[in-house]
Amino acid sequence: MADALRWGILGTANIAQAAFLPGLRAAGGQAAAVAGRDADRTRAYAQQHGIERAVAGYEALLDDPSIDAVYVPLPNSLHQSWVIRALEAGKPVLCEKPLGLSHGEVAAMATASQRLGVPLWEAFVFAFRPHFAQIQAWVGGGEIGPILDVASRFSFRLRSRDNIRLRPELGGGALYDVGCYPVHLAAQLFGGPAQRAAVLAEWDASGVDASLAGAVQFAAGRLLLSCSLAAGPDTFTRIVGSAGAITVSNPFHPGDRDWMALHQGDRVTWVRAGDGTPSFTAQIAHIQRVVRGEEPPRHTAAAASLNTAASIDVIKAAAGPR
Ligand SMILES: NC(=O)c1ccc[n+]([C@@H]2O[C@H](COP(=O)([O-])OP(=O)(O)OC[C@H]3O[C@@H](n4cnc5c(N)ncnc54)[C@H](OP(=O)(O)O)[C@@H]3O)[C@@H](O)[C@H]2O)c1
Repeated sequence: MADALRWGILGTANIAQAAFLPGLRAAGGQAAAVAGRDADRTRAYAQQHGIERAVAGYEALLDDPSIDAVYVPLPNSLHQSWVIRALEAGKPVLCEKPLGLSHGEVAAMATASQRLGVPLWEAFVFAFRPHFAQIQAWVGGGEIGPILDVASRFSFRLRSRDNIRLRPELGGGALYDVGCYPVHLAAQLFGGPAQRAAVLAEWDASGVDASLAGAVQFAAGRLLLSCSLAAGPDTFTRIVGSAGAITVSNPFHPGDRDWMALHQGDRVTWVRAGDGTPSFTAQIAHIQRVVRGEEPPRHTAAAASLNTAASIDVIKAAAGPR
């Protein structure tokens, strides 16, 4: 593939091999290099996952002119510094969620992206997939009337205590890890940031929030949020409007067995939610078309991430300290 985009990955992250690489391959991109802190471990990771080259140190990968775009799946607290360095190196960036730990961090990254003219995206991949376009079409077409509330949960149980999600200094915790998805969805549907919240957090001994639930008020409606690192794997979303509702079995990473339903009185319209592609495919394909000049960027950090970050600030403040 002569014009396949050459991607570099910062860090030998689990999510890079589990989700980014399958999406990259399906989108026709090239896994050109992975950079890690440990040379031997990075080499083994590159070999095991079919990445062309292992690079010692993140900086060296960013300095490599043969890399066209960078994927940043580092711990949350490291996103800001490495995203800004990647943008300064002129590399379009796909960074993992949550893009930053606060609105201030996300604003700094979005501003750097705009100042440098280098695009930046947060990996909320669902926003690029056909099921989300269908949800937006139903909502935009008035099928459920104005949205009153969005009930959305995302949880799973951490199997090991040796995990970045249990490290407060790395930006761990349920809200940052899984709660950010319902918050991003609500910020998109309500078109603005949260204004206030009433939430309860359960704290892990490490100091991070193990679970968090509550009500989050936006100008245009309410999010009923539940997220956890200590409950069984579960996700759903119900979007309730004045004239109907939409149920989504797995709004954030729908697979082939997932579905959506539009409820209008007694009438229910069922739609398949998965599209048969790995979850990351659509967003990576979009980024590649943008880099090639084939389409304008959409759902960039500057356009889509600031309301989410501001909402997370509101929810964190409502949860209070441990
Ligand atoms: N979009 C999604 O569906 C999705 C799903 C899961 C996770 N995520 C996000 O992806 C990111 C990574 O999550 P993950 O589960 O893949 O984590 P992970 O397996 O622990 O990977 C993080 C990588 O960061 C590097 N790193 C640099 N400094 C580190 C430090 N002080 N401690 C630990 N690792 C450090 C490590 O690579 P080297 O040692 O090789 O440098 C490590 O492999 C997070 O932002 C998370 O929220 C997104």
